[in-house]
Amino acid sequence: MPNSIDLRSDTVTLPTQAMRDAMYRAEVGDDMFGEDPTVRKLEELAAAKAGKEAAMLTISGTMGNLVSLLTHCGRGEEAVIGDKSHIVYAEGGGAAALGGLPYRVVRTNWQGMPDLDELGWTIRTKGSKFPPTGVVCMENTCNRRGGTVLTPEQMSKVTELAHSRGIPVHLDGARVFHAATALGVDVKEITSQVDTVMFCLSKGLSAPLGSMVAGPAQWIERARLTRRLVGGNMRQAGVIAAAGIVALTEMVDRLAEDHQNARLLAEGLAAMNSVKINLEAVQTNIVLFKVTVPGVQQEDVQASLAENGLKVSNYGEDGLRMITHYGISRQDILRALDIIGKVLSRYEASS
Ligand SMILES: Cc1ncc(COP(=O)(O)O)c(C=O)c1O
Repeated sequence: MPNSIDLRSDTVTLPTQAMRDAMYRAEVGDDMFGEDPTVRKLEELAAAKAGKEAAMLTISGTMGNLVSLLTHCGRGEEAVIGDKSHIVYAEGGGAAALGGLPYRVVRTNWQGMPDLDELGWTIRTKGSKFPPTGVVCMENTCNRRGGTVLTPEQMSKVTELAHSRGIPVHLDGARVFHAATALGVDVKEITSQVDTVMFCLSKGLSAPLGSMVAGPAQWIERARLTRRLVGGNMRQAGVIAAAGIVALTEMVDRLAEDHQNARLLAEGLAAMNSVKINLEAVQTNIVLFKVTVPGVQQEDVQASLAENGLKVSNYGEDGLRMITHYGISRQDILRALDIIGKVLSRYEASS
């Protein structure tokens, strides 16, 4: 439907004019030889923002996580990951399939915080007869929990436990700037809790593509070899990096607006009769909700909303997902609530 409001993801954003201008003007070279000045600049900027020694550009968040896991773990070493993590749900089992490293899944609470007791007996050091742990992963914000935020204090508990067993910690920080915005802290306070981090330039920050992996300089050098292994080497990638620099310098400060819009949306939903929503979990730009009209299927609601001009994602057992982002205004949110209200009233009337 023309003029639909698209809340399926914060990846549907289009590059800003500043990004298009920067991409057009980008100074480029062959990045395989380390000669693309715009990529170098982005990698230095990303490392500085994350407070890490070095950073590397990857095409996608999935590739960033894949390269990180493959760099941390040898074949047969386990990656310990939260049960609601994107790595487990939506990345094709990449590191397991390509790297021969099993995923060991631990329970997380409503915020995406791994259960520390379970983590304690899940992590296994080298030398026993069981597969050793190669890395422990966290996700902040946690997408499948509805964009929930882990505080630096919560994260440090996981890291202390992993480090006490000699195991490194990797953060899927696809939306780590959203977490920092929600907490009102510098993103370094979050990224300093982990050894390595992946964050996306394309989620909420509006770059057309690209993610950064940051960590210790020597580890990043090894990650460059892993990126090559998975076909992720790039040439004149400055055209991508130029948009990424705009994303990191111009698009972070406005994330608070997306969070306010998500809150408005969530509170509007909470006031509706046939909606189940956990308002406490709406901490950033993601809103998960369920429709409780007896006999009505989630996919039918999704289709009816789309027919009426509102695109949302179906997150199965976690409900329907909406994400606010650049290009979505307060007016759009009010219109979205109006569409949902009308669609649900029709379902209620016919149930
Ligand atoms: C939490 C999280 N991690 C990783 C990714 C993967 O990013 P990409 O789609 O760029 O591969 C996503 C994508 O939405 C995500 O939500």
